[in-house]
Amino acid sequence: MATAAEGMDASKGLILAARFGTPLLVLSRQAIRHNYELMRQYLPTVMVHYAVKANPFAPIISELDRLGSNFDVASDGEIEQLAAQNIGGWRMVYANPVNTLRGVASAVRHGLRYCTFDSVGEAEKIAAHWPQAEALVRLRVVNSQALVDLNKKFGVLPEEVLPLIRAARDRGVHVVGICFHVGSQALSPRPYQQALADCRELIAQAADEGFELRIVDIGGGFPVLPLSRRGELIGMLQAVDRALTECLPPAVEVWSEPGRVICASAVTLLTSVIGSRLRDDHRWYFLDEGIYGTFSGVVFDHWEFELMACNPGRTGREKATFAGPSCDSFDVMFENRETPPLEIGDVLMSPNCGAYTSASATVFNGFAKAGMVVLEDEFPGCEQ
Ligand SMILES: Cc1ncc(COP(=O)(O)O)c(C=O)c1O
Repeated sequence: MATAAEGMDASKGLILAARFGTPLLVLSRQAIRHNYELMRQYLPTVMVHYAVKANPFAPIISELDRLGSNFDVASDGEIEQLAAQNIGGWRMVYANPVNTLRGVASAVRHGLRYCTFDSVGEAEKIAAHWPQAEALVRLRVVNSQALVDLNKKFGVLPEEVLPLIRAARDRGVHVVGICFHVGSQALSPRPYQQALADCRELIAQAADEGFELRIVDIGGGFPVLPLSRRGELIGMLQAVDRALTECLPPAVEVWSEPGRVICASAVTLLTSVIGSRLRDDHRWYFLDEGIYGTFSGVVFDHWEFELMACNPGRTGREKATFAGPSCDSFDVMFENRETPPLEIGDVLMSPNCGAYTSASATVFNGFAKAGMVVLEDEFPGCEQ
């Protein structure tokens, strides 16, 4: 997997921090391209719908638009943003099993065709407000090892799928497929294999009752791994590809909704040390970005962010606590983190900062969200 750190070294970090100030997010369009192409290369029969929720930054959407990606949207805000970027509703799946009426109205207005659901109540809502929709039933997948287990909240058990399809049909909803999400940052192909085996059974049982399930959406979940573990990701994609061939009839259209694997490694955060002190003989550093900003991923995404010093000559090791700029004592990101001793004004770089980071950042305490620049625009010629 390409990482922003590949194109984004410490010297570029210092130049950009001086040019724009920090906190600053640096997007590598090239990394977005690499990550998208990796999905296409190893899952060649699968149509990518980028999960906008992971990072809706407009240049990411534009690059994926240019590459021919489709999009997974989950709210009226995401639909409206994409529409404003001239992306047609026919390229979006409204992949939230419980929708707001405002979201449904936006989907209808922009000509979306597909939605997902996992309850009779939602089927009634679709029938009443979006009768022309084609719906995918969300299947529940057991995967306790995922970093973020989405199946606590969504999905029906395999044995509940057919009764739900019948109930939806009785209310006038056209059910055309099955979708699932194995949980985010899945580290094994097993939950995909299990879910696809369930899909095989369900498609056959549905066919016996005259329902044609012609779409299977395997969701997101594909993990962000360091370059040294790239082989693991490729092995996982290959195993999923084999499971698709083994489990699904050739006529079934397969979709995916990757989020983090597309955008995480494409963004690097630059943040500066704004304070340093000893508390009870332990070193604390205060940064200009915190848990209410890009590092919101510590809370919402359980993500382990790396920190690298950009300034030259920072040698030695100490253990330190890193806190954000707000007045809240909850605003502490990392404790006992090994680091070279730092000085106020030092710039730190945090790679893999593109997924579930700026998307869930707030402006608590009046600290503005980190700005974003595109690496290849700032250093023309670095794009290969
Ligand atoms: C329905 C749906 N699809 C796709 C995604 C993207 O998942 P990931 O970032 O793990 O690929 C999510 C994440 O919450 C989701 O809820």
